[in-house]
Amino acid sequence: MNYRHAFHAGNHGDCLKHALLVWLLAAMQRKPGPLFVLDTHAGIGQYDLAATPATRTGEAQRGILRLLRDPPAPLAAYVALVNQLGLYPGSPALIRALLRPQDRLAACELHPEDHATLRRHFARDPHVAVHHRSAWEALGALLPPTTGEKRALVLIDPPYEAEDEFDQLATALATANRRMKGAVLAAWYPIKHRAPLRALFATLQAAGIRDIVTAELHLRAPLDPTRLNGSGLLVVNPPYGFEQAAPPILEALLARLSNQEEGAGTALARIADE
Ligand SMILES: C[S@@+](CC[C@H](N)C(=O)[O-])C[C@H]1O[C@@H](n2cnc3c(N)ncnc32)[C@H](O)[C@@H]1O
Repeated sequence: MNYRHAFHAGNHGDCLKHALLVWLLAAMQRKPGPLFVLDTHAGIGQYDLAATPATRTGEAQRGILRLLRDPPAPLAAYVALVNQLGLYPGSPALIRALLRPQDRLAACELHPEDHATLRRHFARDPHVAVHHRSAWEALGALLPPTTGEKRALVLIDPPYEAEDEFDQLATALATANRRMKGAVLAAWYPIKHRAPLRALFATLQAAGIRDIVTAELHLRAPLDPTRLNGSGLLVVNPPYGFEQAAPPILEALLARLSNQEEGAGTALARIADE
């Protein structure tokens, strides 16, 4: 396990994922019933963007720091949370900040040090369970929730350092969808080149998963597979209004984060019908 999110926290991928995550949570909290949130690849929960890992890559400079200076309206809720939480909040910290008293978060992190850091972050928090276990195994074990919540949001955010991580993601989405049909599943993916994504979408369609939408931010055409040319969030069972709410969020990200390279743009696509 070489990947450490501290080098990438607050980059354009995080901005896309976290801005849409904040919208998804708010949409699911329109109903008062308790919500179970599973964060399968949680990281450490907060990141000091002034410390060496982040400054070494400069990714946050080209990401969240551009949004903090002048937040566009569709990103206001996300940026306000980042300001409120101080250090750059990872997904479990954003989720925790938005939980209502009736909601619960389970967060999995496999890296031993990062798991220990995350556990300390949520020590004695009765709303949060931190697991030192593999996401791929946890998805089967923790869905449906044993505590009886009828609604769930699952964030799947692998590091994509292993060759077969797109295959693992497809299997995980099929497993989660089978174990809890109505769960909202949100999976972040990198756009380096298109071939692995075409294969992923075809696998999900062949598996018969219904109601899938993708929201993508492209910083440039995906021609150089060694670069993170953009990223996307794939959502199974998107809450009502997602297809109307996502485009302004994507456009606001594009306006602040793109350097107007060839092929920059946004895309919302339906991969499988309801
Ligand atoms: C992209 S980072 C997560 C960032 C986090 N979701 C956020 O938005 O702040 C991926 C994390 O997954 C962890 N990880 C890698 N493989 C894992 C696995 N099989 N199960 C659980 N965590 C894993 C890595 O250690 C890393 O912290």
